[in-house]
Amino acid sequence: MPTALVTGATGISGNAIVQHLLGLPEWTKVVTLSRSQQIPAHPKNTHLTVDLCGATAPVVEVIKQDAQDLEYVLYCAYQADTDLDRAFEINVQMLQTFITALREAGAMNTLKRIVLVTGLKQYGVQLGQPKQPMHETDPWLEGEPWPKNFYYKQQKMLIKAAQDDGGSWSWVVTYPQDIVGVARANFMNLATALGLYASVCSSLGDGEIPFPGARKAYLAFNSWTSAKLHAEFCTWAALAPQAGNQGFNVTNGDTESWQNLWPNVVERYGGRIPPVMFPNGDTGPYGDFEAFHSVSQFTPAIALHEERIGLKGDFTGMHNEVHQQIDTVKWSQRPEVRAKWAELRDKFGLEHDSWDKATWRFVSLLLSREFSCVVSMSKARKFGWTGYVDTWDAFEETFDALEKESILPPASKLRRSE
Ligand SMILES: NC(=O)c1ccc[n+]([C@@H]2O[C@H](COP(=O)([O-])OP(=O)(O)OC[C@H]3O[C@@H](n4cnc5c(N)ncnc54)[C@H](OP(=O)(O)O)[C@@H]3O)[C@@H](O)[C@H]2O)c1
Repeated sequence: MPTALVTGATGISGNAIVQHLLGLPEWTKVVTLSRSQQIPAHPKNTHLTVDLCGATAPVVEVIKQDAQDLEYVLYCAYQADTDLDRAFEINVQMLQTFITALREAGAMNTLKRIVLVTGLKQYGVQLGQPKQPMHETDPWLEGEPWPKNFYYKQQKMLIKAAQDDGGSWSWVVTYPQDIVGVARANFMNLATALGLYASVCSSLGDGEIPFPGARKAYLAFNSWTSAKLHAEFCTWAALAPQAGNQGFNVTNGDTESWQNLWPNVVERYGGRIPPVMFPNGDTGPYGDFEAFHSVSQFTPAIALHEERIGLKGDFTGMHNEVHQQIDTVKWSQRPEVRAKWAELRDKFGLEHDSWDKATWRFVSLLLSREFSCVVSMSKARKFGWTGYVDTWDAFEETFDALEKESILPPASKLRRSE
């Protein structure tokens, strides 16, 4: 009869874990923790509201009562900051505060495992092209020229905390890719912004839904991570004895691309696929829209491997570029776009802040990466994980759920192509 505490319970990864655990009869108690938002009431759940960026004492006070029979922690708390140094400090401090509070609350007596959710910054995908497929055994990007990475520090803290407690509990770290899931007002949510973009495009002008990113990104290969499948993985990894003290890539198990997915998005939202998707080539603007272009200040992660793979000097000094034929941040502020959103919002009774809280810049980065981004699932499979979901099915399921939550308009009621 396992018991769990999920931090970051209202976020895209945490919310899916909470819903999954609440649905499993054998998990008798699911304590959830977040800073500001609540989760819907459930008989198996106690929700704790506390700020992990604050002092430790209030956190101890809040978790004390539920810490006495706690067995599993799923740590999904995350605070984004565009200043990378600040993001490092905040996220390291939040985990440190939480571990200290667990200890002071007496939770280590019954604790069996902590599952920490991080992601593909493990492999430096935010810096530019990585070596791929990415494997858990790939060396970490530490020291010059690599910027500080809070994922590494969090993992080291977790390993040390388990050692300090004499190995009485174990840890797991998951590395999900771009997460497809449901959450309100989180920093990184691809499906929400994508659904809003497609809904408005389909309802404007001739209903064309152009891929806003770059041609290279359209043709590249990628993996995605369903938040639901990731939740199942975390539950499996919490309990599987052989998974202890390991890090795992977690993706859907297929490799996909926008050249496959985009026509599906267009069809779902009743729009039209532009006959010439990239009228101005690889990087030019689409029609009268403003394009977005940025050059990474970092060395791409593949440079770490260039000697080993016999490509010495090919990547050092190179800087990856990001191109969007439609700058989605600027697009989202256009008067005709905002007016159409307001019309859809009022017509379908949608959440008022869906639009302003949509993560347009995050989406622009995901749709404009000019390289493939594929991880290996071999390690998880060798350890006994068999989960899989088709990526388009995961998108459809997520869009359906976001419609039910009135975050997205009902796609079936939007314009159909002739
Ligand atoms: N989103 C993606 O596509 C994606 C992809 C790969 C990896 N990841 C990684 O997955 C991990 C989890 O991120 P996520 O995307 O699931 O996060 P998220 O959706 O932004 O949710 C963050 C959660 O943390 C809570 N939180 C934030 N600040 C807090 C604080 N000071 N005290 C207590 N709780 C706080 C939030 O609570 P409130 O809502 O109440 O503020 C929310 O429940 C991160 O390492 C992230 O980099 C994310």
